[in-house]
Amino acid sequence: MFSALRPLVSTIIDSNKTPEAKMQAICELLKAEVPHYDWVGFYFKNGDKRELKLGSYAGAPTDHTIIPYGKGICGQVAESNQNFVVPDVQAQDNYIACSITVKAEIVVPLFVDGENIGQIDIDSNTPDPFTKADERFLEFVNFEVAKIL
Ligand code: SME
Repeated sequence: MFSALRPLVSTIIDSNKTPEAKMQAICELLKAEVPHYDWVGFYFKNGDKRELKLGSYAGAPTDHTIIPYGKGICGQVAESNQNFVVPDVQAQDNYIACSITVKAEIVVPLFVDGENIGQIDIDSNTPDPFTKADERFLEFVNFEVAKIL
C-alpha cells in the first residue's frame, strides 16, 4: 500500500498547486487510501512562539488548532524531535483528546534544513495499528513536503 502511495505523494508535490493546496491534497489522499488513517493533519511552529498551529488536515474539525510545546503528543514531538507512536491513547497521561473514537496516534516531525518546524499527525480509530512501515512512509511524506516549504 505505502509503496503505491509514495509516487502519488511525489506527483502532488511536483504539481502546479500552492504549497497549501499540495498539503491539503496529501492529507486527503492519505485519509482516503490508508484504512487505519481517520484524521490526517499538519501542525507547524507558529512564528517564533513555542506553540504549534494547525495547517492542512482531512477529517473532523478539531478545537485544537493551537497546541503549546510540551502539551499532548504533538507538543511533546515539537520538543523531542522524534517520532511518537501511541498504540493506545488511553494509556497516555499527556494526551489531548480530539475525538472519543480515536484509539491510537502517530506523530512524525518535519525537518527543514535540520530544524523541526512541524509535524504530520495521524489519528486512528483502530487500536494499535501503526508499524515501522507507517513511520518510514510518513518520514518520506515529510521529506517531500519539506521541499516545498
Ligand atoms: N491528540 C493530539 C492533539 C491533536 S488531535 O489529535 C488532532 C495530541 O495529543 O497532541
